[in-house]
Amino acid sequence: MSKVGIDDIDVAGKRVLLREDFNVPIRDGEIVDDRRIRAALPTVGALRSRGASVVVVTHLGRPKGRRDPALTLAPVAARLGQLLHATVHLAPDVAGDGAHAMVEALRDGDVGMLENVRFEPGEEQNDPAFARRLASLADVYVNDAFGTAHRAHASTEGVAHVLPAAAGTLMAHELEVLSRVLDDPKRPLVAIIGGAKISTKMGVLTNLLDRVDTLWVGGAMACVFYRALGASTGRSLVEEDQIDTARLLLREAETKRSTLKLPPDAVVAPDATSGAAARSVAWREIPDDLMVVDIGPRTVAEVGHDVEEAGTVVWNGPLGIYEIEAFAAGTRAVAGALSRSRAYTVIGGGDLAAAVDDAGVADKIGHISTGGGATIEFLEGKALPGVAALREREAARR
Ligand code: 3PG
Repeated sequence: MSKVGIDDIDVAGKRVLLREDFNVPIRDGEIVDDRRIRAALPTVGALRSRGASVVVVTHLGRPKGRRDPALTLAPVAARLGQLLHATVHLAPDVAGDGAHAMVEALRDGDVGMLENVRFEPGEEQNDPAFARRLASLADVYVNDAFGTAHRAHASTEGVAHVLPAAAGTLMAHELEVLSRVLDDPKRPLVAIIGGAKISTKMGVLTNLLDRVDTLWVGGAMACVFYRALGASTGRSLVEEDQIDTARLLLREAETKRSTLKLPPDAVVAPDATSGAAARSVAWREIPDDLMVVDIGPRTVAEVGHDVEEAGTVVWNGPLGIYEIEAFAAGTRAVAGALSRSRAYTVIGGGDLAAAVDDAGVADKIGHISTGGGATIEFLEGKALPGVAALREREAARR
């Protein structure tokens, strides 16, 4: 990695402000998926063992600059403590007197956490004054929050200009894996892009067309392409205003290195609520009174074949309405295909991480990214502000 990492800096006896992305799903006060917290343990552990006191800063949800008791980090601090087998002190505020008191009481190797950084309006505004307040809590800044690196906020970007900054091990690993996929993959490189809204994935599709060998488009957004090709999609969810763009993309694909592939069949149902009366049809035969809810068995077999032959597979976004058990089969079957493939496999996005867990194959996937939006923007070829703000190793040596 070209950025300064935690191995390049001396943290002994120092206070480290550690930005993590602990934006985890919480239901009834319980964390339902702690993957992002577990993924941060190597960085937290390394900093502690090297004699730093660690001040974790993260956001949770979107409180929009206001204190929202429902979005307190109390459950997150408790889970981090359980995983570390240590007490994680939670400050009563983000960068006020309570945070300063908490930080001052930390000893080398201790871990504390600031309250939800999005309780402060200066966070999302990337207010330099707020960045300085955060910086005043520590000597060094480490950004490990790959999942939030696409946001130019005070705790992800601004503070990196105030304190000596380095990338954490999770951040470094994410960047290394995703860069390798885009720049130096073992070929054939197969990308599978699913999800409901093509409008949010257009940049990814365009960038990947130049880089991958095979680009599969799945999920509800495949319907936009079906429409661009003149087929009917019944009652499926379709972004009508994207049909022309899909047509352009199909035309563009003819001149690119990739083969763009659409699901040859689909599972259709009367509505998106239950599996009753679901059946599979060829893509040109979607009945007027039904909607696409999953990929069909022929698609599963064809994607499976490409995955088997691949050197590298990168997959983002579910291929059906994954939240409904009856429509999760296609996504799970493709997860199974990835787990059996000899290819290096990379999965991005929270929904898919859950899907590979449900399919019981998470440990057979090469890399499961902790990023959602960040992974998409990376695959789009965009610079991530939280990464751009970190020092280049070469520049730091000079
Ligand atoms: C995520 O969950 O993708 C990140 O934590 C970013 O959250 P945000 O979309 O609310 O900025």
